[in-house]
Amino acid sequence: MSKKILLSGVKPTGRPHIGNYFGAMKQFVDMQEGHESYVFIADLHALTTVQNAGEMEQGIIDIVLDYLAIGLDPEKVVLFKQSDVPQVAELAWIFNCLTTMPYLMRAHAFKDAEAKNKEINVGLFDYPILMAADILIQDTDVVPVGQDQRQHVEIARDIVEKFNRIFNVDTFKLPNAMILEGMATVPGTDGQKMSKSYRNTIPLFSTDEEIKKLVMSIVTDSSGDTPANVRAIHELFRDKEYLDNLYAEKKGKYKDLKEALSNDVIAFISPLRTRRHELENNKDMIMEILKKGGKIARDRAEAKMEVVRKAIGVKLY
Ligand code: ADP
Ligand code: TRP
Repeated sequence: MSKKILLSGVKPTGRPHIGNYFGAMKQFVDMQEGHESYVFIADLHALTTVQNAGEMEQGIIDIVLDYLAIGLDPEKVVLFKQSDVPQVAELAWIFNCLTTMPYLMRAHAFKDAEAKNKEINVGLFDYPILMAADILIQDTDVVPVGQDQRQHVEIARDIVEKFNRIFNVDTFKLPNAMILEGMATVPGTDGQKMSKSYRNTIPLFSTDEEIKKLVMSIVTDSSGDTPANVRAIHELFRDKEYLDNLYAEKKGKYKDLKEALSNDVIAFISPLRTRRHELENNKDMIMEILKKGGKIARDRAEAKMEVVRKAIGVKLY
């Protein structure tokens, strides 16, 4: 039986954190053997906020290093950047023409931005459509992501049904989100969802000093014996039995518990950091990986677009 197709992406918008890792990136590594995998850097999505060429270039290179450091194997996974597959922008336009404004106005990301009175560019409004194009153009079966992306995969599913119905074809396959229980929403140091935009992250490649400082700064709820936020993050690194014992033994001793967590985070991050340092000077290798992956992803996308162009009636020869 042929392997299922996995696809996911992360935006090059700053340092990834343990929420990104446990919620999404780790799955790409764990699933690379059993799936035909496509992992990409969502640079066109990042353009909704990153509007500086130097920052964008560095962000892309950084994410490739991050992926390699956590164990993604470019021999097993097609690693590419989204902008090397311009066909997704073409497909997004086609989907735009099938999608209504009120439908997209119900998307969480748009609603949140609007509630915060942010300036919303058309790219941000259209974000879920480009993401649907990323997913559907590669005939994706599974999309490993964190909880905050569930709605985007639902939107992609709606588009499959709509496109296939309107043009009376079976061009697109229904993708499924893969969201791991217990990792769906990793909390940040302030108890909200850990997110680059909330300044509450523990970056995946932080130094020991940074980790100590960040863990010690975790906001604790003083009403109980167990600091819930500390324990929630700790659960990513240790099993329940170990933590039950530790948290019983150190009941009420928040500082000790934070120190224990800090040590566990350091033990986990330090080998990743070392591996990343070793890779840092291999810029040529990174370019080769991206070029090779980009060609594979683009060739597949172009073949799919030929079917799409035919389905909508613009492919005359
Ligand atoms: P951020 O919110 O920090 O900007 P991204 O939007 O770049 O993160 O998300 C990249 C991937 O990481 C997505 O699949 C997303 O669902 C996942 N992710 C982000 N934050 C978390 C979190 N706190 N817990 C679990 N998964 C997360
Ligand atoms: N929206 C995703 C995020 O913020 C990134 C992304 C873009 C993506 N296109 C995708 C994820 C396609 C999975 C599949 O993290």
